[in-house]
Amino acid sequence: MPRLDDDRLRQLAASYHTPLYVFDEQTIRDKCRALKAAITYKDTTIRYACKALTLQAILAIMREEGMWIDASSVNEVHRALRAGFAPEEIYYTGEGSTPSVYRFLVDSGVPINCTSLDQLRLLGAIAPGQACSIRVNPGRGHGENDRTNTGGPGSKHGIYHDRIEEARAIAGSFGLRIVGIHSHIGSGSRPEDWRVWNAINQTVLAIARGFGPDLEFVNLGGGLPVPYRPGEAPMDIVAWGRALSRSMADFSADLGRPVRLFVEPGRFLVAESGVLLAEIQSLKSTSAEGGARGYDYAIVNTGLNHNIRPAMYGSYHDIRFVPRDGAQRGAGKDYVVAGYLCESGDVFTTDECGRLAPRPFPELRVGDLMVMANTGAYSHAMKNEYNSMNLPASVLVDPSGQARIIERRGTLDDIMRRELEVYNPARAIAT
Ligand code: LLP
Repeated sequence: MPRLDDDRLRQLAASYHTPLYVFDEQTIRDKCRALKAAITYKDTTIRYACKALTLQAILAIMREEGMWIDASSVNEVHRALRAGFAPEEIYYTGEGSTPSVYRFLVDSGVPINCTSLDQLRLLGAIAPGQACSIRVNPGRGHGENDRTNTGGPGSKHGIYHDRIEEARAIAGSFGLRIVGIHSHIGSGSRPEDWRVWNAINQTVLAIARGFGPDLEFVNLGGGLPVPYRPGEAPMDIVAWGRALSRSMADFSADLGRPVRLFVEPGRFLVAESGVLLAEIQSLKSTSAEGGARGYDYAIVNTGLNHNIRPAMYGSYHDIRFVPRDGAQRGAGKDYVVAGYLCESGDVFTTDECGRLAPRPFPELRVGDLMVMANTGAYSHAMKNEYNSMNLPASVLVDPSGQARIIERRGTLDDIMRRELEVYNPARAIAT
């Protein structure tokens, strides 16, 4: 986010306190426009996978940019409806499904993507004759690691590619019409992996071809990478869009009619729009002992509760420190940057296997501002209140540089609200 220089970040931290999520509106708009421009295949609509960052202000930007929505829960559907999306612009792909959720989706006209044979049976029982799509696991996936790979025998997601005939038979027995084939094969790979993405999706297109006359759309999912490491080249979105458009043109020509294309990226649209601001609360060190080395730690007032990606996936997020006083600092050393939680794994600088990986920084002091980059996707969205820590506020910087709060800080009352509604401690002590 180059538009937010050190002075601006210092000001934001001073005005809104830390920890703080900051999002840059122009970056989101630029990414939406770049993606739209890259796909030249005419019948294309981009759905924003809103699980990546679900705030209303962000959904409003997506809507203005002409994005539709991919939702993974009924509450995501409600949040999209509240942001003004029409039901038919939302698409529900949930591994979880209940009769009441499906009833609600059918009644409100939100398209349903069935991710298992049992979901097809559920939908068939509730709404025989309904049109729907199925999520296919094409037998191969890609992703940053096993935990974000959603294709292949090791993935729970979708209907396995060799069960498609069974899916068709179940749909047929309820009169369900399969009008779309969906696949999402993984998330967060290396920027050059888009060729793998395209290659695997050829299998999905081959499966879709088998649905002949009923087929209205294919949805090839999300999973477009962004560069997280300094110096990493971004994905060649133009080459990707060209190759994708070509395969869709061939596919439509084979079927003798245009078939609508959906893609549903989350990370690509928002990851680079966000930074997480925090400050150093203490500096400490351990000594080499018993054959183990010692470390220098910078402890910041945030943790895996506000960005769980390093602890959960061994993900890399670039971190820099802005001196509080704005003065130049001298040579420093290698630090482990760790969070403030009572949890040993609450460390931001690890390698892919979760081992401590100190990084070089200039001299650090208590009070210095930490700027963690690329936290727009799956940081705010996966936050939690562990250790009863308050959730950070979120600020959106508009294209003119004006900042506004789009979500206030959490409070103790937020943390306790649901238990206080059912449990009155005063009464418990009296009885
Ligand atoms: N479509 C479906 C059905 C998905 O499950 C996902 C992500 C997406 C689209 C969007 O994928 P994206 O374009 O953002 O890569 N929490 C993770 C990765 C798991 C994402 C789950 N599904 C992370 O922090 O990297």
